[in-house]
Amino acid sequence: MNSDDMKILAGRTAADALVKSGMKLGLGTGSTAVHVIGRVGELLACGKLRDVAAFPTSFQSLMDCEKWKIPVFTLNSRELEGGLDLTIDGADEVDGENRCVKGGGGALLIEKLAAYASSSFALVADERKLVKSLGMSFPVPVEIIPEARVQAARALEAFGAEVILRAALRKAGPVITEHGNLILDVRFRESADPVVMEDEINRIPGVVENGFFTRLRPVLYAARGDGTVEVRK
Ligand code: A5P
Repeated sequence: MNSDDMKILAGRTAADALVKSGMKLGLGTGSTAVHVIGRVGELLACGKLRDVAAFPTSFQSLMDCEKWKIPVFTLNSRELEGGLDLTIDGADEVDGENRCVKGGGGALLIEKLAAYASSSFALVADERKLVKSLGMSFPVPVEIIPEARVQAARALEAFGAEVILRAALRKAGPVITEHGNLILDVRFRESADPVVMEDEINRIPGVVENGFFTRLRPVLYAARGDGTVEVRK
């Protein structure tokens, strides 16, 4: 199985197993989460699923929900009232305790809002995302306000990390997030405690949010190249 097939398998398997009628549902971002959204759309269209109220975690997810006619609401709406039953999302890296790094697609801020607003959280990934130590191979995204660019980078470097301002593709200059901010990609040279770092990074002035997700114990649906899905709690 190639990695695209594994993403499809992980996304559809998790949606089939976890999504129930009447749920308030956080829907993630990226090339794996898109298959969760597609499967939810299919189940709604054929009537196997009813009355789902979805919160998309990015413009990309919103457009996918529109495509599949999934009813969407803001987190502050009367329908959702700031809470979700379940969020299913992709990840850039997942460690042995199902802690993860997210934000490769730049949507970490709303992804974290959704995850931390949810009674349960599930990750969908292919086996290439499984790592021993977070943040050493795939950099941890840190969303900052533009005015904090130099100061925040310096503070992050003091953790012994390499820090790169994320550049845009097909636009001159940096990525501008959906909230008008910048992203610093932070690669740790030595293994760092993700629980400590999630809090420490957010203490830096000008940091809006970082891509360590450590406060939840999500269930992981990891697709393998042999066509199986490991469900790890
Ligand atoms: C989006 O900002 C990210 O957090 C994605 O969920 C993450 O990068 C995984 O994306 P893929 O499934 O495309 O690898």
